[in-house]
Amino acid sequence: MPAVPTNPAPVIQPLPLGLAEHGRYRFWVVRGDLVHPLVSGNKWYKLKYNLLHVQRQNSPLVVSFGGPWSNHIHALAAASRMVKIPALGVIRGTWYKELSATLEDARAFGMRLQFIDKQQYRQRDDPDWIAERLADWIGQTFPEHSSWLEPAVLRKVFIVPEGGSNLLGVQGVREWAAQIYRQFPAPTSFVLPVGSGGTLAGFSLANSPHRLFGIPVLKAMPGLVTSVEALRDKVAMKSGTTPWQLKEGFEFGGYGHYTDALVALLKDYSATANLPLEPVYSGKAFVAMVELAKQKVFPTEDVVFIHTGGLQGARGLLQ
Ligand SMILES: Cc1ncc(COP(=O)(O)O)c(C=O)c1O
Repeated sequence: MPAVPTNPAPVIQPLPLGLAEHGRYRFWVVRGDLVHPLVSGNKWYKLKYNLLHVQRQNSPLVVSFGGPWSNHIHALAAASRMVKIPALGVIRGTWYKELSATLEDARAFGMRLQFIDKQQYRQRDDPDWIAERLADWIGQTFPEHSSWLEPAVLRKVFIVPEGGSNLLGVQGVREWAAQIYRQFPAPTSFVLPVGSGGTLAGFSLANSPHRLFGIPVLKAMPGLVTSVEALRDKVAMKSGTTPWQLKEGFEFGGYGHYTDALVALLKDYSATANLPLEPVYSGKAFVAMVELAKQKVFPTEDVVFIHTGGLQGARGLLQ
């Protein structure tokens, strides 16, 4: 089996953001979107230890969950092809007339797809329910591998949760954060988008004098702080800390929603900063960073935007 590749060096660039307008700040961007053409941003780091684990425990198959435009499913399909691990994507929704571009790609990378309805999909984090359904899904998608249904083999099938925010995912992100923090000796503010909170948890678990500002892209997530804390607790042994906080109010209607005003702003910022932005994750966090800079919220001279990649998912918004 090919080895899981090592982490690339982070690409860090200055951001030409009209310094006069934003007073005392110097802006930078970590180009997570350039980490790999197919496994970009946080996905590279979230998947690294998951795939190493699959290899080490000799799992026949990796299974995960996602919607039709999921960055995670896309990245997992590409990464598992790189290391030659068979992959099964359990996809939310059964009504599609045609495959999304994301799922077309995933299938072309070799991932097999199982569609389930939205009601069933709600149980995606319930291990008992997954255990009940797994043999069926495998039987339907990999009919040539009936040996995988033998109990001893089935037990080795590895499940990665939606978005890849498990313990192994957070550990991978912590490494990314440590690599980045080393490039900024003076206390610095970091801004990044937050979905499940796994990426923020990883960044907060690397030791540094820095400050983290997480921008939720989903509306009203009362459990988010608890989720980040829960993920932190799981990894906490021998970990450091970087203080973090959430800055709400930049959801633009919620996950996958956006306004014409947001799109216009992103076009403007993309051109000024020469940086590709999409309206689901990086775009909302970028707008938040500029707004928070205007409000002089950041306590440091240097402000760093973490581009978490995921540009492929924006193809869905064009439809
Ligand atoms: C491109 C991109 N950025 C940010 C996030 C949010 O990461 P997390 O769910 O770890 O908070 C995601 C979702 O995984 C994503 O696809």
